[in-house]
Amino acid sequence: LAALKDFRERTLVAVKPDGVQRRLVGQIIQRFEQRGFKLVGLKMLEASEELLSEHYCELRMKPFYHGLLRYMTSGPVVVMVWEGHNVVQTSRTMVGHTNPAEAPAGTVRGDFSIHVSRNVVHASDSVEGAQREIQLWFQEKDILNWDCCDQTSTG
Ligand code: PPS
Repeated sequence: LAALKDFRERTLVAVKPDGVQRRLVGQIIQRFEQRGFKLVGLKMLEASEELLSEHYCELRMKPFYHGLLRYMTSGPVVVMVWEGHNVVQTSRTMVGHTNPAEAPAGTVRGDFSIHVSRNVVHASDSVEGAQREIQLWFQEKDILNWDCCDQTSTG
């Protein structure tokens, strides 16, 4: 049962407005699919300030907070829930360092961005954080528990 639970780990990944505008959504989804993770939730929306202030509640005192909210409300975002073994940590590795200058080539930020204020994607930073963020962005009914028959994947 423990092993099964492990494969059900989930994380929230969002393509930020710059990623949507630059038509990077498909390439980002492709990276997670080809790695072997299972897409269980997906939607596009213009996030409200209210939602974002909840999402980024720990950053309220940061000097970049208002700029971050302006950026995140500048256009639609694509928000996804991905599932699979160790998905939180592996997604962070795939996305790369928050500051693109420190993100190696091969990571999303290392391949597609140059500045922290336009860093293309968000990925939850812990299992607990992922649970909080998934509840914030998705209703339970909009996350689909579909069976995966592909032997190469872990879901
Ligand atoms: S901190 O200061 O360590 O708490 O920040 P960090 O964990 O590195 O980043 C938290 C989120 O804030 C975003 N960020 C910024 N946005 C705009 N401008 C600046 N200068 C900036 N610095 C950090 C960073 O991308 C993180 O957002 P997410 O959506 O989690 O990637």
